[in-house]
Amino acid sequence: MKILMVCLGNICRSPLAEGIMRSKLPGDFIVDSAGTIDMHQGSNPDKRSVKTASKYGIDISRQTSRPITTKDLDDYDKIYCMDLSNFKNVISMAQNEEQRSKISLLMEAAGLNHASGEVPDPYWDEIDGFEKVYHQLDEACDRIAKKLLIQKSTINN
Ligand code: 4NP
Repeated sequence: MKILMVCLGNICRSPLAEGIMRSKLPGDFIVDSAGTIDMHQGSNPDKRSVKTASKYGIDISRQTSRPITTKDLDDYDKIYCMDLSNFKNVISMAQNEEQRSKISLLMEAAGLNHASGEVPDPYWDEIDGFEKVYHQLDEACDRIAKKLLIQKSTINN
């Protein structure tokens, strides 16, 4: 199972989502992240995301930003978008129903509707915005990881 977390710049939210989701799943799940823009390509995550993750024992410092590609829509099984704008941008890249069916809003996939189903962009906030995003992502990833693990055990039994 390959999971891709997507936000705008791939330096604040999706790197955190990647680190959190990986920490909740066994190693046979592949977790990566990407942005819908290439402005920060090659950069490590924002220092505030790195610091917040580190506070909870998750190291995201070596991740590097990359833009999402059309190939990702074939390569990944689940593509979770942080906000509606990310979702619309990724949906517009899809070329067929199979690709479209993989794409969802993270909060919706988790069955949560905080902040109208979106993970807000903390880029212009102080560190406490990152703290809030961390907890929102942690709750959403927890619910999705549990669902994926149940699905996996049903398939294997
Ligand atoms: P992210 O946050 O999408 O969570 O990585 C942002 C990062 C950079 C910019 C905007 C949002 N930016 O405008 O450069």
